[in-house]
Amino acid sequence: MAEFRLPANSRITKGRHFAAPDGATDIRRFAVYRYDPDSGENPRMDTYDVDMASCGPMVLDVLIKIKNEIDPTLTFRRSCREGICGSCAMNIDGGNTLACTVTAEHGKGETKIYPLPHMPIVKDLVPDLTNFYAQYASIKPWLQTRTPPPPDQERLQSKEDQERIDDPAACILCACCSTSCPSYWWNSDRYLGPAALLAAYRWLVDSRDEAKGERLDDLEDPFRLYRCHTIMNCTQTCPKGLNPAQAIAETKKMLIERRH
Ligand code: SF4
Ligand code: SF4
Ligand code: FES
Repeated sequence: MAEFRLPANSRITKGRHFAAPDGATDIRRFAVYRYDPDSGENPRMDTYDVDMASCGPMVLDVLIKIKNEIDPTLTFRRSCREGICGSCAMNIDGGNTLACTVTAEHGKGETKIYPLPHMPIVKDLVPDLTNFYAQYASIKPWLQTRTPPPPDQERLQSKEDQERIDDPAACILCACCSTSCPSYWWNSDRYLGPAALLAAYRWLVDSRDEAKGERLDDLEDPFRLYRCHTIMNCTQTCPKGLNPAQAIAETKKMLIERRH
């Protein structure tokens, strides 16, 4: 798994240690990033010794056990615990991924858990995704048509046309890719990032959409699209196995082709 730059918000100090309870038989240590911007204190790393004999197998299970039984102040997002909602995206041992799909036994020694890199932090493992969602909304992620639908049926697609959107439409907007992208770290105010660009591509290749020209116009910008330098972190990290880097390259190709 690729190593990514971790949260840059000031010095991270050593935090509290929570020892395993008496009688624990299978102890594993987790170091977890803790930060409350309202407290005025530096971020810290708290360590928790968890008895895996009474815990589910995934990193998310560990976080839930810590919150329920050891330290209720720990804050993180989760919902589906099935790799579908994208809520539990975080940085585990240097890679952005979904806590519910990574086994707690995946590495040797202490497991280090941080929020997604280079994002403002709401609290602990919860990043502020306001800008990320606004960028997604800015690509107009809905079907745009000019012609009326057929009177007696839906707007149909061939099987081949449907297959072109299968992969990009499988994105769960977890933000693992965008927060792994160095171009996005430095220019997230103006560069859309791989997640939003994959979503833009999903509509560019939808055979039913009739706004391809306007969509490409909106992307033809030195920052919104062209800050991608094909570093490929995005594709390497995507927990759903998607390929935003290729979608971005294909979008650039569409822009070149329409000039000729
Ligand atoms: S390929 Fe582009 S979007 Fe993906 S990590 Fe590299 S610069 Fe970022
Ligand atoms: S492309 Fe992959 S990593 Fe990026 S937001 Fe979608 S599912 Fe997450
Ligand atoms: S809890 Fe939904 S993806 Fe992990």
